[in-house]
Amino acid sequence: MKDKISVLLSEEEVDRRIRELGEAVSRDYAGKSVHLICVLKGGAFFACELAKRITVPVSLDFMSVSSYGAGTSSSGVVRISKDLDEPLEGKDVLIAEDIIDSGRTLSYLIEILKKRNPASLRLCTLLDKPDRRVVDNVTVDYTGFEIPDKFVVGYGLDYAQKYRNLPYIGVIEGEE
Ligand code: IMP
Ligand code: MG
Repeated sequence: MKDKISVLLSEEEVDRRIRELGEAVSRDYAGKSVHLICVLKGGAFFACELAKRITVPVSLDFMSVSSYGAGTSSSGVVRISKDLDEPLEGKDVLIAEDIIDSGRTLSYLIEILKKRNPASLRLCTLLDKPDRRVVDNVTVDYTGFEIPDKFVVGYGLDYAQKYRNLPYIGVIEGEE
């Protein structure tokens, strides 16, 4: 059966906002370089588009994490299935995430990455569902959009591995 998807944030809105985030990051990191960490798979589309809008030097690294837990909620116990290629020591690190929901995944990841002694560690997310947060140690430095508690797809976000490639953020109708 084909899912019906309604548009929550259009391609133009998302692109415009990423451009603004890129400008803010470029201003804040003036005179420095940004070591952008893309959290696979969901963060890939956002991280690449954001990188294109940053005007200070950018290096990119990728990591893949999966959180143990069933269904659509994460347990907070994160397994690194692909680690970064480069050390973080002394670098100004910016994590690019697709969405922060409970915050458990990021809470765990931030603790791991802090131990690698970056010069600074900040977090940028395309989407944030603040109503769903269960941790209090995740500070988001750059947010694209705050969205209501709905399951969204597109721009890297999937539903059973589908719809990552949609160029907009959509909601599957009938899903809660
Ligand atoms: P957290 O640990 O609860 O913050 O989970 C974050 C992860 O859950 C994200 O990186 C996504 O992979 C996934 N996730 C949370 N909300 C959604 C959603 O609305 N659509 C698709 N994936 C989601
Ligand atoms: Mg993610």
